[in-house]
Amino acid sequence: LDEPIRESGPHLADLLGRDLDGEGPLYRQLADALRRAVDRGEIPLGTVLPPERALARALTVSRATVVAAYDRLKADGWLESKQGSGTWVRTPDEGAAGLDAVATGRIFLSAGGSEQRTGPGEHEDEASDALVDLSVAAVLGSPTVTAALTSLTPEDVAPLTAHHGYLPQGYRALRDAIAAAYTDDGLPTASEQIVVTTGAHQGISLVARQLLRPGDTVLVESPTFPGALDAFRRFGARPVPVPLDGDGVRVDLLEDLIQRSDPRLLYVAPHFQSPTGTVLTADRRATIAAVASARQLPVIEDLAMADVVLDDVALPPPIASYDATAPVYTLGSTSKLYWAGLRIGWVRSSLEAAPRTLAVKTVADLGSPLVSQLIALRLLEQRAAVQAERRAELRPRRDRLAALLAEHLPDWRFRVPAGGLSLWVELPRGNAEEFAEHATRHGVVVVPGPALSVDDGNRRALRIVFTLPERDLEEGVRRLTRAWGSYSAAREHRPASRLLV
Ligand SMILES: Cc1ncc(COP(=O)(O)O)c(C=O)c1O
Repeated sequence: LDEPIRESGPHLADLLGRDLDGEGPLYRQLADALRRAVDRGEIPLGTVLPPERALARALTVSRATVVAAYDRLKADGWLESKQGSGTWVRTPDEGAAGLDAVATGRIFLSAGGSEQRTGPGEHEDEASDALVDLSVAAVLGSPTVTAALTSLTPEDVAPLTAHHGYLPQGYRALRDAIAAAYTDDGLPTASEQIVVTTGAHQGISLVARQLLRPGDTVLVESPTFPGALDAFRRFGARPVPVPLDGDGVRVDLLEDLIQRSDPRLLYVAPHFQSPTGTVLTADRRATIAAVASARQLPVIEDLAMADVVLDDVALPPPIASYDATAPVYTLGSTSKLYWAGLRIGWVRSSLEAAPRTLAVKTVADLGSPLVSQLIALRLLEQRAAVQAERRAELRPRRDRLAALLAEHLPDWRFRVPAGGLSLWVELPRGNAEEFAEHATRHGVVVVPGPALSVDDGNRRALRIVFTLPERDLEEGVRRLTRAWGSYSAAREHRPASRLLV
């Protein structure tokens, strides 16, 4: 094995000295400077740092300051130490942050990343070979979506082409429609507060870019939307999980988690949480808004799934409506109800934060495509009709999947959600990642809980989407049942911990 690089006190002091920015306690500045140097590649992974006393002497600070900085970085997973071997650099969640392990990529690429959504129903002659892909929580374009895409007239397009086309904040008529919809839903909103984004996914990144610095912590639901984990990690932040129950995120744990992890952001999905489908109760929304306001803790409430309503449930208004002084960013999307190919979402910021959101959007890409925005506007004008169309399409599929699982895999546990696109299933035993891999070999793709979780949590859970036609769901469950049988049998017979199938 190669000898590790060893940093000397004076060299490291020279490297970090210019980067101590003078803000906050000295140990924290030192920890941040070290982290930035690792981020920039100036201190390679595996580097052994100088002993605390040597670095303290070189920086002319107390040894306690260096000890506290090292301790903080160890707690955050950036450093590791062992008696006799010193302290060395590791990256947080090493591997998970690497490009080959991007959480959303793991899902989109799991079925080969093909452009065609495949199910055996579409390939009659090779029915047994095509994968049944129950992994991607997205719908195909509905008749109304197709009509909107194909019916643009010269008059529709004229207001766009009469402009040069650079509109970083978004098409005004679309922002007006979004603001009016929030106002109707109990969240008074001006068009100035809306920035149109390239999907809600970009909305998450824009807020993360505004707020997060390497080493910050972000509280996230467990499980959560993996794209959010990707975005937070991309900015060097560390997601910290908050458990959920049937009423949404456990707000009773918030204060304690805030004390312990000093978060810079809280990310929640209150309407049909992805992937569990839970709806956060009004009381809990009020609590989050109160905590956010009292501590000035920014919150992202991701309402990307909010319009996919399958049963008649009363949805409380967005978290931002409970306290106008809470720093809440409310995200929306046209992806889940209409079609993800539009790539249109938005961020609603407070009036005060809106210019910063606009600034990061401008730097990101100078604005989302106007043609997509025009189609999105047409679709938002038909929201109720598309909701009815989707409900007619998706409710029978959800119920069919639930009935099939109850019949063929009766010891798998799940709740039937009132909205969203997936079932969140708890296996009675085993390991979801192993099982998902095994299931792929039986021709069906599902997402294991750890892919949607921090620190490989939810190891016994699966996300199974119900967006495919019923005959594909039937074939999918047939394959899952076969896979579960052979997986369970192999588990019983294996001597040690690895499953060899
Ligand atoms: C909760 C949540 N937020 C955001 C997204 C991404 O949405 P968009 O297509 O608008 O970027 C998804 C998609 O899976 C999601 O489930």
